[in-house]
Amino acid sequence: MGASRSIVCHPTESQPEAAIVITDESVQTNGRPTEAPGRDEQLSELLDVLRDRASRPLEEAKALPPAFYTSEALYELEIEHIWRRSWIHVGRVEELANPGDYIKRDIAGEPIVVARGRDGQIRALSRVCQHRFMDVLDGAQDKGNAEAFACPYHKWSYALDGTLQGAAHMSRSALFQRDKAEICLPRFQATTWQGFVFVNLDPAAPPLSDVMDHVEAKMGNYNGEEWRLVDRIEWGDTPANWKLVVDNGREAYHHIGTHLESLEPLWPAHMVDFEPLETADFFFARMFVSPEAAIGQEDGHYLNPLLLPPAPNLTAFERSNYIVAGIYPGFILVPGPDAMLTISFVPTGPRSHYVELDILAHETALADPDLQEKVKEYRDWLMQIQGEDAEAQVAVQRTLSSRLTLDGGPLSHLERAIWTFQRYLAKRLLGE
Ligand code: FES
Ligand SMILES: [Fe+2]
Repeated sequence: MGASRSIVCHPTESQPEAAIVITDESVQTNGRPTEAPGRDEQLSELLDVLRDRASRPLEEAKALPPAFYTSEALYELEIEHIWRRSWIHVGRVEELANPGDYIKRDIAGEPIVVARGRDGQIRALSRVCQHRFMDVLDGAQDKGNAEAFACPYHKWSYALDGTLQGAAHMSRSALFQRDKAEICLPRFQATTWQGFVFVNLDPAAPPLSDVMDHVEAKMGNYNGEEWRLVDRIEWGDTPANWKLVVDNGREAYHHIGTHLESLEPLWPAHMVDFEPLETADFFFARMFVSPEAAIGQEDGHYLNPLLLPPAPNLTAFERSNYIVAGIYPGFILVPGPDAMLTISFVPTGPRSHYVELDILAHETALADPDLQEKVKEYRDWLMQIQGEDAEAQVAVQRTLSSRLTLDGGPLSHLERAIWTFQRYLAKRLLGE
């Protein structure tokens, strides 16, 4: 039996001598448990596999093995090198319209509040009180308006820009009196792009525009600044590794399975067009409507059906498809003629993530008296699609605990973005 063979259907007969099964708990050879390797050893094996995946041409591409979706050591590395160093979508500027408007978020275990200050600036602040580490917004709504942030524990109070503005019973502390001007809620980088607000925990991170300039150049007449948040689906914590969401959201191959009755008739898998991108920090695809589901034709383009009032400034080509732009690690932007959707997720553990979906309507649609009703219909449809996706992700996570030799199957050309995602992971985790 050739040692290079990687897919083994009859493990006891055909597994190569040296075949290694990497799970998060143990290593086996030929199906027999052996002593589990150390955490470092296991991580280094995973990184070797990643190096292999990232070096393959698309025609040789294969999925990552299960341990990539369960390993705690790898998860910690991802948090450090990806999630604590990347721009994470946290909401829309219209949610922070007035001074004092705030949004609470937790990113990679870091409790954050994003707030508009009295000077009009949007800032991302730590919610960790500088006294004895209480969450200064513990028990508060996830978003709202505040005059200041008063810690519920001993009532130290911070201004909207994070500076300490008051603390009771501290007059006898010489230390406090000396240092009080320096005490503040730590700040993180915050920025906006087309009305979307992003936070980065890394003070040295390159600007978001490094990636978004490339995305923007492909967006044609779509401009997020003309769109408004009209609904949010807080789908919540889901028991699946965050990379399963990336894998799932970056291919339309699964339309023929997971979404056979819903998306496949609308945007058939074979009609999704991926741009062959040079950068690995995002991918860009277009899902074209099928002739059968189209509501008509214009300039030779089949037109996508509409649930919300469409944006008025789009070409016939732009009205023939929905864009899918996946910005790594946790933001998927899906602009279509009648709605701009976003899927935003953050990991909450090696085997779980939090996800929410936003529905944006074009600003001109706000005049439609029936908009709320139409948004409700859109929401119901999106809930169905998200339900199908989440079910698939959770089902895959369940089977990942199998101890069989599972090396990852070959990828279709329709899974091109999973292949580029592996290259992104390698760049971030291996620094190569
Ligand atoms: S921990 Fe916040 S005031 Fe004491
Ligand atoms: Fe899907």
